[in-house]
Amino acid sequence: MLVAGVDVGSTQTKAVVMNEDREVLGKGLVPTGAKLNEAGQAAFEQALAAAGASDTQVGFVVGTGYGRYRVEFGDAQVTEISCHARGAVFLFPNTRTVLDIGGQDTKAIKVGADGEVIDFNMNDKCAAGTGRFLGAASEALEVPLPELGALALSGRNPVKMTTTCTVFAESEILGWLAKGRRVEDVVAGVHRAIASRSVSLLRRVGIEPEVTFTGGVSNNEAMVELISELVGMSVNVSSETHHCGALGAALFALDQVLTGAIPERQTV
Ligand SMILES: Nc1ncnc2c1ncn2[C@@H]1O[C@H](COP(=O)(O)OP(=O)(O)OP(=O)(O)O)[C@@H](O)[C@H]1O
Ligand SMILES: [Mg+2]
Repeated sequence: MLVAGVDVGSTQTKAVVMNEDREVLGKGLVPTGAKLNEAGQAAFEQALAAAGASDTQVGFVVGTGYGRYRVEFGDAQVTEISCHARGAVFLFPNTRTVLDIGGQDTKAIKVGADGEVIDFNMNDKCAAGTGRFLGAASEALEVPLPELGALALSGRNPVKMTTTCTVFAESEILGWLAKGRRVEDVVAGVHRAIASRSVSLLRRVGIEPEVTFTGGVSNNEAMVELISELVGMSVNVSSETHHCGALGAALFALDQVLTGAIPERQTV
């Protein structure tokens, strides 16, 4: 039997199809858009196609993320805090601290050896210091998002951003350019501002090694480097860390199939 996890995030929807040996057979990734149920379905279908499987083979689906209740084919829902914690410890078993930077939220999570949530902290109703801020910079500078990290790494004299507010980001970025600062130095400054805000959030839960960086922003090499520098150790990332929430959800689905219950304590 197969299981699946579907993470309907504010920005991107991720899905993972897994077998009973905890092997990831297929992944899906689509923009969330306004129709959350359709995004969940589309990501799930992508993951099934990548796995070469059909939905009739999937015995249990756990939905997570901000749109988890819109995964209409889901059998249960688990919060993304629990799913990122579970997924991160699965990917890197020595993880004790998780930093998830998504499109709209940044979350710092302290985890135990089994992936259980001990404590967490998140940004409050404001996209400052999240992937959204990088998106605003990408638009203002007309640099595609996947190229932003490499450009930031080439900036030798980062500007000192005074805001991490996405509303003011564009005008501040354009202001620096008008003052003649190089694009790469502006981008480097934007990355520094987000990294330092994220690390403050991490400090509130305590930074215990190892630190695993999850969410879409973990694709950004400059963020990985800057966060590693600020926490004083290299943070774990992999090609799976963007899908970490969906992976955790699939693991909870597997608990249900193998033991008949998603552990009670994992409902945070
Ligand atoms: N290839 C990439 N390179 C750089 N950044 C990326 C890439 N893919 C995604 N991102 C960043 O990741 C963000 C989306 O991350 P993610 O999918 O974790 O968000 P989400 O789960 O939808 O949001 P949230 O958890 O806040 O609800 C985008 O805003 C973008 O900044
Ligand atoms: Mg997310």
